[in-house]
Amino acid sequence: MKLKVAVLFGGKSTEHEISIISAIQAMQSLDRNKYDVVPVYMTKDAEFYTGEGIDVIENYTHIPDLLKKAVRVIWIKEGKKTGLYRYPMKKFGSSLISEVDLVLPIVHGTNVEDGTLQGFIQTLGLPYAGCDVCSSALGMNKYAMKPILKDHGIPVLDCSVYTWKDYEDEEVLVRSIEEKYGYPVIVKPLNLGSSIGISKAKDEEELKDALELAFQFSRTVLVEHAISSLREINCAVLGDYENAEASECEEPLNAEDILTFQDKYMSGGKSAKGAKTAGASSGGSKGMASLARRCPADLSKEERDFVRETAVRTFQALGCSGVARIDLMMDKDTGKIYVNEINTIPGSLSFYLWEPLGKSYQQLLDDLINLALKRQREEDKIVFTFDSNVLEGVHLGGAKGAKGSKM
Ligand SMILES: Nc1ncnc2c1ncn2[C@@H]1O[C@H](COP(=O)(O)OP(=O)(O)O)[C@@H](O)[C@H]1O
Ligand SMILES: [Mg+2]
Repeated sequence: MKLKVAVLFGGKSTEHEISIISAIQAMQSLDRNKYDVVPVYMTKDAEFYTGEGIDVIENYTHIPDLLKKAVRVIWIKEGKKTGLYRYPMKKFGSSLISEVDLVLPIVHGTNVEDGTLQGFIQTLGLPYAGCDVCSSALGMNKYAMKPILKDHGIPVLDCSVYTWKDYEDEEVLVRSIEEKYGYPVIVKPLNLGSSIGISKAKDEEELKDALELAFQFSRTVLVEHAISSLREINCAVLGDYENAEASECEEPLNAEDILTFQDKYMSGGKSAKGAKTAGASSGGSKGMASLARRCPADLSKEERDFVRETAVRTFQALGCSGVARIDLMMDKDTGKIYVNEINTIPGSLSFYLWEPLGKSYQQLLDDLINLALKRQREEDKIVFTFDSNVLEGVHLGGAKGAKGSKM
C-alpha cells in the first residue's frame, strides 16, 4: 500500500502564491511509486479544495474558475483514521474523497508556517513533515528566537521590539531608537517573510516612513542596527534533534539594498554577473529557486564550516525538524557572521541547496517524510493521558458552578 500524502498549500498568508509554486514543484518530484499524492489547496479564506487541476500551476492564474471545477473538502478524524470528505456532504453514499496518512505542509508565512496549521494537523492526529508547533512559532517570530540562540552562544544582532502602543507617540519612539541604535537601522514587521514591510532607514525621515510601513503589517515591529557592508549567506539543515546535516551554502545576490520580494521570487532565473542560478531553469517565477545566487557561496573553508555548523546548531537549538533554511549575515567590515532568521518551510523547500551535495529533490522529500514518520513513532510512545480519579465524587452543585465544589 502506498502512503497517502496530502500536500497542503496556500492559506491566508502574504506568501500564498509562493506556496503554490513551492508545492507544485514538490508534487512534481514526489516518488509516485511510493506515494499517492493528494493535493490540497487552502484558499485565503481557509477553505480546502482538491481534485483534478489543483496541482496544475497554470490554473492558478484564475482561481475562481479553478475552484468551480475543484472539490471542496473538510478534514474529519474518525477513530484512528483521518480523511478528506466532500463538503457539503452528499445526502446518500460516502462523501469520503481520500484517506490521508501524512501531511506535507508546503506553506509560507504567518498563519500557516508559524505553528497555526501545524497545530491544526496535529489535532487531526496526522503525522506531518517539518517543524512542530513550537519550533514553527519560534521560527516565524524574528524576536522570540533570538534569546534562545543567544543562550546557545549563537551570534545574533541585538534588537528591540515595539508595539502599536509605543507607536502612539512617534516622536518618543524615534528618539529612543536613535539613542539606542543610531543610523542606519532596519525596521521589520515581527512575523512576516519575503521582505514584506521591511526597510532600512538612514535618517529620521526614513525611520518614520519605515515605522509606518512596518506597522501596517504587524502590531509589533523589530528594530536593529543595519549592517552596511552586508553579505548574505543561506544554508539549509535537514534532520531533527538527534541528527541534522547542513546543505551547501548559497549567497543570494540582491539587486537592491535589501533583498526584496522581487529579488527573491520574480528574478525569473536570471543570474547576476558571475553568479550561477541553481536549481530551476530560467523563465517565469520558480519560487526561491529562481533567485539570483552564487552557489556554492564564495567562502573560505573556515567560513563555510562556521556557517554550516552554526546553521545546524540554530536548527537544533530551536527544536526544528524536517528541512529549514537558516539565513545568516556577514558584516564585510568586521568579518563577523550573525544568524538573521530561520525559515521553517523554506521557499522551494531549499531543494537547490541539496542538489550540489548529491541529494536529489526526490530524496529530500523521502527524507522529510521519513522524519515525519519517525516523529510520529516517537509521539506514539509518549504518554499523553493520565488516568486519575479526580472526577470521581466531584459535584458542581448546579447553578452554583465551581464555587459549590470542594477542590
Ligand atoms: N540587520 C540587517 N542589516 C542589513 N540588512 C538587513 C538586516 N536585516 C535584514 N536585512 C535585509 O533585509 C532582508 C529581509 O530581512 P529578513 O530579516 O531576512 O526578513 P524576511 O523574513 O522578510 O526575509 C534581508 O535578506 C537583508 O537583505
Ligand atoms: Mg530573509
